[in-house]
Amino acid sequence: MDIFRIEGPVKLNGSISVNGSKNATLPIMAAAILAPGVSTISNAPDLADISVCIKLLSELGCKIERTDNNAIRIDASVIDNPVGDYEIVRKMRASICILGPLLARCRKAAVSMPGGCSIGLRPVDIHLRGLQQLGAKIKLENGYIIAEAPQGLIGTEIFLGGPFGSTVLGTANVLMAATLAKGKTVIESAACEPEVSDLANFLNKMGAKISGIGSPRLVIEGVKQLHPANHSVIPDRIEAGTFMTAAAITAGTLHLCNCRLEDMMAVVDKLRSIGVDVAAADDGCVVSRTGPLKPADITTQPYPGFPTDLQAQFMALLALAEGNSIIVEKVFPDRYMHVAELNRMAANLRKEGSTILICGAEKLMGAPVMASDLRASAALVVAALAAEGLTIVHRVYHIDRGYEKIEHRLNQVGAKIYRENDSETSKSLLPALAAND
Ligand code: EPU
Repeated sequence: MDIFRIEGPVKLNGSISVNGSKNATLPIMAAAILAPGVSTISNAPDLADISVCIKLLSELGCKIERTDNNAIRIDASVIDNPVGDYEIVRKMRASICILGPLLARCRKAAVSMPGGCSIGLRPVDIHLRGLQQLGAKIKLENGYIIAEAPQGLIGTEIFLGGPFGSTVLGTANVLMAATLAKGKTVIESAACEPEVSDLANFLNKMGAKISGIGSPRLVIEGVKQLHPANHSVIPDRIEAGTFMTAAAITAGTLHLCNCRLEDMMAVVDKLRSIGVDVAAADDGCVVSRTGPLKPADITTQPYPGFPTDLQAQFMALLALAEGNSIIVEKVFPDRYMHVAELNRMAANLRKEGSTILICGAEKLMGAPVMASDLRASAALVVAALAAEGLTIVHRVYHIDRGYEKIEHRLNQVGAKIYRENDSETSKSLLPALAAND
């Protein structure tokens, strides 16, 4: 298994281009199966999760080709196996978003029920309730969700709110299904995330009739059929936010190209209150810090609130603030696997329920740490850039799911991150540990 060996502290300086959004690309790829023919998705990142999605769609019958220029060509002329296999779904929960489009196109689908993961229980009850309200018959058999609508789906009014607010992939699933339903569907309490809007814009290019895009009330006039379309995915606001925290924690300056600040108001507002400069530039922004890091209170919320996918990276940043900060996680209350790992790097974090109390430390120190999920591992990398000494991040396959060649891109702006195989590293760490003793 690969590990990262990270030497710190460093000061980042230079320019990074932000890639296309993973969380927009995945449902857009699923949407391509709604129409027979060839759709092309460009600005798609080259990530482990995208490869899993390619495999998932190929198993359904699609012919998929990745072209050199970050585009994915999906030929969905034939869908002859509307099944999301356990072996694929267990690798990537987002696989659930084939359920809605399969049901709409094939009128039946069997998709393995996703399990929980290290960020929490992650049920799909709201997805299923929404699809049932569109007329699907749904049962659970041998761990698979079996959904059928032999007469087709029928538009209706659907409330999609849940105990933690709206659901991103739940909205995507029901929205995709409703495009081909008979009559009008209103989705109330729809997720407003930019990734959902990007999906809705793609669906409209395919001939869907969706209005209210970007608002919590989506209105969909069902159409008889959709046609293939081409689409360029929006920049990844979470990747951009991660690089912003990297610039901030190292007191560096990063020019982020291909970054949409308008999707990141809550994040930019928080960075500025922490003492970080964020200035709009022609094709993105410039993020820099010269003064001390100030403490902050952060509560994660559905968009346009502060994103849960940046909670861990901001925790790393606030670990070095001059004073006490509070983070409250309202989207995934158990998403705190990084807390103990950051404490191993000499952060001073205390968990009280779904709240983390952060007492700013003077410095972080390198340590061997374990990545537990995608964003937690990003936080460990961010912390390691500012930490004194050597940090070894184990299980970096988590980070490869959502950040394309992160070590190369950060190294080009001054980081010292080396990818190695952990068998080599355990050997080379021994003398270092002995010396520390
Ligand atoms: N929820 C339910 N029932 C449901 C669906 C969701 O109770 O049927 C709850 C969840 O357990 C959670 C909350 O609602 O407490 C919000 O979950 P949501 O459904 O919005 O999450 P998701 O759609 O499964 C996407 C992203 C996540 C991101 C969340 C929240 C993708 C592929 N995943 O997940 O991204 O954290 O929205 O913004 O789009 C990541 O990229 O690292 C990641 C985890």
